[in-house]
Amino acid sequence: MSFADPIGVFDSGVGGLSVLREIHALLPSENLLYVADSAHVPYGEKPVGYVQERSRLIARFCIERGAKALVVACNTATAAAVSLLREEFSLPVVAMEPAVKPAVAASRNGKVGVLATSGTLASARFAALLERFGADTDIITRPCPGLVEQVELGELNSPRTRHLITRYTQPLLEADIDTLILGCTHYPFLRETIGDIIGRHIQLIDTGAAVANQLRRALQEARTLSATAAEGQVEFWTTGSPSAFDQVLSRLWPGADTARLIPTCEP
Ligand code: SIN
Repeated sequence: MSFADPIGVFDSGVGGLSVLREIHALLPSENLLYVADSAHVPYGEKPVGYVQERSRLIARFCIERGAKALVVACNTATAAAVSLLREEFSLPVVAMEPAVKPAVAASRNGKVGVLATSGTLASARFAALLERFGADTDIITRPCPGLVEQVELGELNSPRTRHLITRYTQPLLEADIDTLILGCTHYPFLRETIGDIIGRHIQLIDTGAAVANQLRRALQEARTLSATAAEGQVEFWTTGSPSAFDQVLSRLWPGADTARLIPTCEP
């Protein structure tokens, strides 16, 4: 079977699979090329220049494999590198955005929490979002070191994962939030555990589905939507250990093909 014109989707690790599943559900006939930069995860606490260089290398890899569009399925890489990718490459680049606008609209008491990485929360993109949509709302942010690593280990509900979530959400609960933004693509895999800990009355919001819709619009504009009715294939690539990646992949994407090691994705 041919694997032509894929959409490249990348993240520091397995988190972007939460976006990939939305894309696959909305655009089932598209071929998808997923790249996990597992040798360099997490991005969240790394310098901006480092994340930019990783993003650039992975974009090149996707383009060399024929990608017709790129999805930056990582909030931290979006904050650091989306402008650069759009400047340097001519294919459509779709990226994440912490869901400040929908969360502000959904909140009934005007108190919204945000869980994200330090890189995302410190970015100019996030500051601009707050200024644009958050002026009349109390927005309480919380960086979550260690949480991405728990998802990478496949520990979605372990004692340590629960301990970290409890610690990070405590100040948000004390501030009486009624809406919580999952501002990192790893966190939707913790949705059940987070809901269990903070209570189901707090709405959890992420942007995977919105990104899939945005991708469809970008492909329509570029006239590159797949015209076939056949189901697309999904390839998985990693810069880290394929067997370690496969272990977590089999839980998060049952039935996935085994991952392949990216041969040259080092500076
Ligand atoms: C990370 O690699 O630290 C997190 C990725 C994200 O922000 O979505």
